[in-house]
Amino acid sequence: MMLLSENITRAPDGTLLFAGQSVPALAERYGTPLYLMDEERIRQNCRRYTATFRECFGEDALPVYASKAASFRQMYRIAAEEGLGADVVSAGEIHTALTAGFPAEKLFFHGDGKTDADIHYAVSERVGFFVVDNPEELEQLAREAARQGIRQKVLLRITPGIDPHTYKAVTTGTVDVKFGVPMETGQAFAFVKQALGLPALEVRGLHCHVGSQVFDETVFEDCVDVMTAFMARLKRELGYETGMLNLGGGYGVRYLDTDRRVDIPARIRSVAARLKARCEELDLSLPFFVMEPGRSIVADAGMTVYTVSSVKRIPGYKYYVVVDGGMADNPRYCLYGAPYTVLHADRETAFYAVYDLAGRCCESGDIIQPTVKLPDDTRRGDHIAVCTTGAYNYSMASNYNRLGRPPVVMLRDGESCLAVRRETLEDLTALDC
Ligand code: LLP
Repeated sequence: MMLLSENITRAPDGTLLFAGQSVPALAERYGTPLYLMDEERIRQNCRRYTATFRECFGEDALPVYASKAASFRQMYRIAAEEGLGADVVSAGEIHTALTAGFPAEKLFFHGDGKTDADIHYAVSERVGFFVVDNPEELEQLAREAARQGIRQKVLLRITPGIDPHTYKAVTTGTVDVKFGVPMETGQAFAFVKQALGLPALEVRGLHCHVGSQVFDETVFEDCVDVMTAFMARLKRELGYETGMLNLGGGYGVRYLDTDRRVDIPARIRSVAARLKARCEELDLSLPFFVMEPGRSIVADAGMTVYTVSSVKRIPGYKYYVVVDGGMADNPRYCLYGAPYTVLHADRETAFYAVYDLAGRCCESGDIIQPTVKLPDDTRRGDHIAVCTTGAYNYSMASNYNRLGRPPVVMLRDGESCLAVRRETLEDLTALDC
């Protein structure tokens, strides 16, 4: 029987299976806390984008993996093998990608706070595209490119003024956010004009990103409408034809059984149809098409496994299951109130109780997920699985309380291997002088 996602099932004896492999056996072999990643699922998720892009746009489109969702070398290797570009937001992500053999020309360097050092490094490494966030960055990048004697390809990040109706911390398209340059105030038009006047920059096109975990069916079509209207104005008033349009990432994934399933190929087809129609109406040539999925590439390919340390039953109040990880390896409930499906990995039962799944960090707010149903006899030593943790868990993990970050283990064809090893006590003091 499938639980939440096709890659989560149970063996006849009740043991939880992930990508067909026994979760308790993996926990025994690698220790806990443990991040598991289903490699086949990652590849299938990539192929939903590559196949549909090809179907809609032929060779004139590229899905770009937003590597902030999960950044370690093996992920860049998989993205490269599957023919995706990569969105990177720091020298650290660029370094990780390049040392994994990822082609520099397929990197898109994002971020609203790029420093002079970042810009110098990325230009030196010949990163394919800068997605320029603001006028100061634009000027600095032009200086750096001129100094290094190259013409740097750029996309300009525009804020289209669209609310994706997702949670506030990940909304990025409304006029008042800290990202990009807003259209509504006239600043975006001036930004494009400024960029076109800088000979060291090749202005390839425009970028926008409205938010993450988006279920709203028309958000990306709305983006197309707003962006193509802007492109038409650029053509009319500046004689500039937008060569590339990047609509960012954001498709939502299922954390709970009650979440809808986003049919990504169908959504992309509809966005493509809208783009083609608008370009025709407005007499624009069809731009090279880019999207930047992160969560929908890796989220449902991940699972975190813990071992129970204690079960605390406070009669008349609350029951807790305390595990050997917590907000250090998964801060998303603490930050966003994010929902998760929690399963007992060792067995099923007819008798359940309701617990808060608590972490081991020294603060009361360290809850991985409140009010979860687990067997009433859950006890120390049992294994607990938290599903859909492939995105923004390892990448947002910290060493709070000097906890070592868990390893990432890739599962493929019945085999498992380390993609990132567990941090040791020596790793934790390696930087201390
Ligand atoms: N492109 C840009 C410019 C972005 O800022 C993001 C995500 C993406 C693409 C990928 O979006 P996705 O397909 O993953 O939704 N830490 C938060 C999510 C932050 C998203 C940041 N930007 C979380 O854990 O929910």
